[in-house]
Amino acid sequence: MILDGKRLLITGVITKDSIAYHVAEQAQREGASVVLTSFGRVRRMTERAANRLPEPVDVLELDVNKPEDLDGVVADLRDRWGGVDGVLHAIAFAPEDALGGRFLSTPAESAAEAFTTSAFSFKALGAALAPLMESGGSVVGLDFDASLAWPIYDWMGVAKAALESVSRYLARDLGPRGIRVNLVSAGPLGTVAARGIPGFEQLAELWRSQAPLGWDIEDPSPVASTICFLLSEYARAISGEIVHVDGGFHCVGAPADLS
Ligand SMILES: NC(=O)c1ccc[n+]([C@@H]2O[C@H](COP(=O)([O-])OP(=O)(O)OC[C@H]3O[C@@H](n4cnc5c(N)ncnc54)[C@H](O)[C@@H]3O)[C@@H](O)[C@H]2O)c1
Repeated sequence: MILDGKRLLITGVITKDSIAYHVAEQAQREGASVVLTSFGRVRRMTERAANRLPEPVDVLELDVNKPEDLDGVVADLRDRWGGVDGVLHAIAFAPEDALGGRFLSTPAESAAEAFTTSAFSFKALGAALAPLMESGGSVVGLDFDASLAWPIYDWMGVAKAALESVSRYLARDLGPRGIRVNLVSAGPLGTVAARGIPGFEQLAELWRSQAPLGWDIEDPSPVASTICFLLSEYARAISGEIVHVDGGFHCVGAPADLS
């Protein structure tokens, strides 16, 4: 079991479809102890999902933009476990007017909100948890390839580009403490967040026709497996990396079969 004895904080579970849910499930099967976070209106949904895991787990309050919530999570984990070995950041949000083809008219406040919740928060979470990782640890976040401009993704795409950069700076600053920082760049998956983006289905269709390995938008398990690997000691010399788990989509420019 590659995560035997690891103590993991996993953010970003709303439903059983959430990528983070699949990470929690696989991590438990690999021997980890897990605590989830949620906040506000969706907390009940997270608690329902938490009770469906192989071993039901606690849900801590965390709006990642609230320093007092981060302090509360750190205090809880210190009492509970005395330390933490890994954390998954599976958090993204962009206001409606920042997505779906309105790039040119999005107000600065909406673009800034997407940045704060989806990119700056990776630093906020990593920096808050680092003091609990006294013997090193692993911080993992979720990316959507930001090296290109996509239809509909708009300011969320810009926020992901920022996340990729934040990840490198975090890797630079936490590396000397033995803390690794990496991203998994996932192909499209049919979660609450993704289905909320107008035009998501068309983007998903591209993957179906172009990914060399094929791609199932209903199956987050390959993404979850890679995250478990990055949280494990097998990845102990990897930091500042972006691992594409997208059926190979990123390496081709067009569908192989143009007929
Ligand atoms: N689904 C996809 O196609 C896809 C592809 C690549 C990357 N991702 C990324 O995966 C991550 C998880 O998304 P998902 O697709 O599983 O969707 P999801 O809707 O299940 O999860 C998004 C989570 O973000 C949380 N969140 C939003 N604002 C927050 C805040 N202020 N504080 C704390 N939590 C907050 C939500 O509560 C939710 O749990 C996101 O970073 C997303 O961008 C998703």
